[in-house]
Amino acid sequence: MSATLPDLPYAYDGLEPYISRQIMELHHKKHHQTYVNALNAAEAAYANTSTPKERIALQAALKFNGGGHINHSLFWKNLAPSHSEGKGHGGVLKDGPLKEAILAKWGSLEKLKKEFNATTAGIQGSGWGWVGVNPVDKRLEIITTANQDPLLSHVPIIGVDIWEHAFYLQYLNVKVDYLNAIWNVIDFEEAEKRFVEAVSAAKL
Ligand SMILES: [Fe+2]
Repeated sequence: MSATLPDLPYAYDGLEPYISRQIMELHHKKHHQTYVNALNAAEAAYANTSTPKERIALQAALKFNGGGHINHSLFWKNLAPSHSEGKGHGGVLKDGPLKEAILAKWGSLEKLKKEFNATTAGIQGSGWGWVGVNPVDKRLEIITTANQDPLLSHVPIIGVDIWEHAFYLQYLNVKVDYLNAIWNVIDFEEAEKRFVEAVSAAKL
């Protein structure tokens, strides 16, 4: 079955002023669409291979474009119009199991943000920042992955695109301003849903 570009769960300007309409349109319609197209092309080519060598040659394209599709599909759902702008519930961490887990690990949401921003600001080149559940002890951790590598070692709860295409048109080279801004549009309700599923699953 072919991969398809998922619709955004909000309008292109829904995350303004924190992420501009221009970034969202390009990021969704051009960048994500390109990963979808290239993934489908790589899978079609894989289906037509007849030797292991031909299949091995397609691994990098499958990983890069498949990861790009998985990561962006998750990222769009991780975001919501901002509560501080009166547009939605983005940026609001309500009382509940996710908040309890964050407080248990970091002491406060502010400390999580600070550690996450410092860790992801240090990514060299392109990559992703994650808050994920460690499948061994079911606690939250901050993890980064390079390029379009999907998060496989943990269950992703919050993922943030740290590629320049995610922020450069608005924040130029100041990555930390993007990182500070994005917390205003993080969908903690979606994050909590994933968290509850992750910690209650018998098998991760
Ligand atoms: Fe991206």
